[in-house]
Amino acid sequence: MNKITVIGTGYVGLVTGASLADLGHEVICLDIDREKIEGLREGKIPFFEPGLEELVERGIESGRLQFESSYCVALKEAAYCFLALPTPSSEDDHCDLRFILSAARKLATEMQQEMIIINKSTVPVGTASKVADAISEELDKRYVSIPFEVVSNPEFLREGSAVRDFKEPKRILLGVESEHAEKKMRAIYAPFSDKVVVTDIASSELAKYAANAMLAMRLTMMNTFSGLCEKLGADIEAIRAVLGKDPRIGSQYLKPGVGFGGSCLPKDVRALRAICTDAGQSPGVFDEILKINEEQQAAFFDKITGFFNGVEGKTLAIWGLSFKPDTDDLREAPSLTLCQRLLDSGAILRVFDPAALEKAKAFFDSSDAIVFCESETDAATGSDAIVLMTEWRRFSYLDFESLGALMQSKVLFDGRNQFTDGAPLDAGFDYLPIGKQAKRQVAYS
Ligand code: UGA
Repeated sequence: MNKITVIGTGYVGLVTGASLADLGHEVICLDIDREKIEGLREGKIPFFEPGLEELVERGIESGRLQFESSYCVALKEAAYCFLALPTPSSEDDHCDLRFILSAARKLATEMQQEMIIINKSTVPVGTASKVADAISEELDKRYVSIPFEVVSNPEFLREGSAVRDFKEPKRILLGVESEHAEKKMRAIYAPFSDKVVVTDIASSELAKYAANAMLAMRLTMMNTFSGLCEKLGADIEAIRAVLGKDPRIGSQYLKPGVGFGGSCLPKDVRALRAICTDAGQSPGVFDEILKINEEQQAAFFDKITGFFNGVEGKTLAIWGLSFKPDTDDLREAPSLTLCQRLLDSGAILRVFDPAALEKAKAFFDSSDAIVFCESETDAATGSDAIVLMTEWRRFSYLDFESLGALMQSKVLFDGRNQFTDGAPLDAGFDYLPIGKQAKRQVAYS
């Protein structure tokens, strides 16, 4: 058991804190947002993440998980302090370290004893030393000398499966500068000792970017092939099957779609582009990833408007808004861009998402042209087409025969290839997937 403070109760901080408490550590999750902390004390999770509520409840009941908004109280006995703070894009696409550095300074004003400070957020090479410098400066101001070390321990959790990802890590990356820090960090992750990879700090910081960029690159490649398949009469799902069987390539992150989104992949690729430029390395590959991702989103919009020869006055059911299933996160969600484009083109939207509907309301001006619906069936009712943006599992169990009967015309644009098994086709829908030939397409006016 170790005494740990986690600063930041976003997706990464809260999952990390609650999971560390579950491992047996004594954890205090610290956030300056008092309202959030009050809610968390009552077990209220500020976002949707499967399994997290139960985990937090268990932690609170065990007495090993506490929530605090005072740095002074939270750091009183801590031997470890995780920094799990946002690292948004700055205006010029660099990683904005404002939140991390200000938290580091605040922690230095309150730290009482020897401490390991752990960077969980995705940060550029050199951030650990910036954090160390900030802490040293604040300690100097206090005229105290407290031993500390900063280590890099980037997070690889995925939203929507973060709790499981913590329990079943593929690797735990520790960027350290001393054997002492390595030993201390290994103690935190003792149950996963076989997954620990130790590197120098710079490699650890860069490896996190490399992992996200590699994933973005794969998706870019598949999205490019999906466009090619549509133009040349090939089938992206067949190509995916062939690629996935090659162990050198692997089968994950090969699903084409409407462009990737979320709070990490786009932001990290943008940051890498800036990092390359600063370092005198060509950023070309990252430029292309970002450009192709935008083109993929635009191509889906063109597919919809092209099908109807313009969407003015058309009613479209939008299924799924979150950037991927099992989350209510809308950050850089392709659905938001698409919805806005369709609205600007005169379409009427009936939108539904199982988790992100409330949050989505803030993104659109209130207007008769966008209706927030209670279910996928409600959204489809009276619509000219369904546009599937997020592959929520519950959409797989729908009866397309009865759905079709409620619609003006039976058309489905499947932005995630969720229905390649043919259920909508069997029910007489015109079906337009990604990277495959549209089926039963007729001209609509
Ligand atoms: C990503 C990484 O996968 C995590 O390892 C990392 O910890 C996290 O960023 C982070 O840096 O914090 P996340 O953004 O939660 O996780 O989401 P992913 O599951 O990676 O999905 C990213 C995007 O790619 C989504 O828009 C998703 O729909 C898309 N995607 C994913 C596809 O289009 N096809 C696929 O086959 C997989």
